[in-house]
Amino acid sequence: MSGAETAWSEAGGHRVEAKSTVIELCTHSPEETLELGRWLARHLPHGCLVILDGELGSGKTTLTKGIVSGLGAGREEEVTSPSFTLVHEYGDAPKVYHADLYRIETAQEIATLGLDEALDQNAVLIVEWGRKLDVAPTTVRLDIKIELVNDSTRRLKLEAFNWKLDERWPGSVASDTKVR
Ligand SMILES: Nc1ncnc2c1ncn2[C@@H]1O[C@H](COP(=O)(O)OP(=O)(O)OP(=O)(O)O)[C@@H](O)[C@H]1O
Ligand SMILES: [Mg+2]
Repeated sequence: MSGAETAWSEAGGHRVEAKSTVIELCTHSPEETLELGRWLARHLPHGCLVILDGELGSGKTTLTKGIVSGLGAGREEEVTSPSFTLVHEYGDAPKVYHADLYRIETAQEIATLGLDEALDQNAVLIVEWGRKLDVAPTTVRLDIKIELVNDSTRRLKLEAFNWKLDERWPGSVASDTKVR
């Protein structure tokens, strides 16, 4: 990344890189990932597709809990992995759909899930293993890649397409840290 294009900031030990459409950051606990999800919920446009990718246990469902609760669509405890039912639905205005494509292999199987209709309704659609989706280039979406660094640290790359995510991630709300 060139220095001219990017601005770096230190926020309580949270190194944040922000271009107009790319944010890279680390979270250091599940609670911090939940907080990131709640923060994202304040910025996501309705009708946005959120694609979550990252290995098993990287924190996709944890982040989803934060987004769903931040949107006021459901409580964190209500958000569970949709591995077997494939799509869960939460709340209203916006509705949030949460899908998990881990066990899905073919485009036909994906087509049966009705995900396009979800986006047409102006819902927020969150898809774990979402790279399996064939996404139209004009879709308003947020791609999130989560890397497992160690037991408690996750590195996340967030990339907004067809909308701007210009805000700075303000860092954690750990018990010993003040909200900035
Ligand atoms: N910084 C962190 N962010 C998120 N989860 C973390 C973090 N540190 C540790 N964890 C733990 O990692 C696990 C993440 O599980 P989660 O179900 O969210 O992952 P997932 O990516 O949805 O997995 P799967 O691919 O099986 O659906 C949880 O047990 C959580 O407590
Ligand atoms: Mg999951």
